[in-house]
Amino acid sequence: MKDVARFIDQSIEKLKKEIEGTAIIACSGGVDSTTAAVLVNKAIGERLVTVFVDTGYLRKGESEHVQDLLGNMGLNLHFVDASNEFFKALRGVSEPERKRKIIGNLFIKVFEREAGKVKADTLIQGTIAPDWIESGGALRDTIKSHHNVGGLPEKMKMKLVEPLRDLYKDEVRKVARHLGLEIAEKQPFPGPGLAVRVLGEATRERTGILREACAIVEEEIESAAESGECEIPWQYFAVLLPVKSVGVRGDVRAYGETVVIRAVGSLDGMTASASPLPYQLLERISVHITNTIGEVVRVVYDVTHKPPGTIEWE
Ligand code: XMP
Repeated sequence: MKDVARFIDQSIEKLKKEIEGTAIIACSGGVDSTTAAVLVNKAIGERLVTVFVDTGYLRKGESEHVQDLLGNMGLNLHFVDASNEFFKALRGVSEPERKRKIIGNLFIKVFEREAGKVKADTLIQGTIAPDWIESGGALRDTIKSHHNVGGLPEKMKMKLVEPLRDLYKDEVRKVARHLGLEIAEKQPFPGPGLAVRVLGEATRERTGILREACAIVEEEIESAAESGECEIPWQYFAVLLPVKSVGVRGDVRAYGETVVIRAVGSLDGMTASASPLPYQLLERISVHITNTIGEVVRVVYDVTHKPPGTIEWE
């Protein structure tokens, strides 16, 4: 994509022709889906219904924040709290691909329910190039079933439109910046959310622990970057391992959870390098996590590049 303004104009013209009735989009408030929603909204206005689903696997404060953000952009917003359904569907499930498939399929079900209510006949998705390439498109091996591709298209009764399908992440950010969207610089967040960062069964309780840990990692790294202690990584978060270890609190034995700090530099998510965060910062994160979250007794730092690791752990 050489000319951003031209890409936007052409997309809007194409979308006007492509979409006849009512369209629906699942918007997470992330760069991809928000950019797709705003593009389509420019083409068909109120005929685009923007659905924001709280899966229960969102980050701290995210549900409220995204609702404000999308509402303020003038999108026709429908909020669905489906967290109980998601926690129930993932009960007893710990295999990563099964988790991804279940979440992807349930998402489609929730959408179809909303689409039926508003009689939508077109489904807009914020799929970008790495999503379908890594989901086994283009004759490649399936590395992970990305959420916005998993479960499609067999189960879908709507026409699928993906306005960002040929773009890489840095190109989507350019489009978002050109559209004046504050989310342009937001770090990526996987469609299945915190469920793929809680290794093993992603229960409500374990997700709550991880949510706190992620918030601390974000807060500490962002304040270190603001004060010039380090560069802001491309992506940074916490992972909760399904491994307990022995610790000590006061003079009492504790058998508790293990949290991983993950921070990477990348251009498009296809490859990544572990960020060399300053040791003092890692130490502050560790102390902050173990002081705040009683269940956690151990914090470790992931220094694996992609490949061979992936950015997310599942
Ligand atoms: P991996 O873990 O495959 O992730 O190295 C590459 C980038 O993609 C994000 N990611 C996803 N994004 N749906 C998405 O929209 C997904 O299912 C998904 N899984 C991973 C990940 O956070 C990283 O930025």
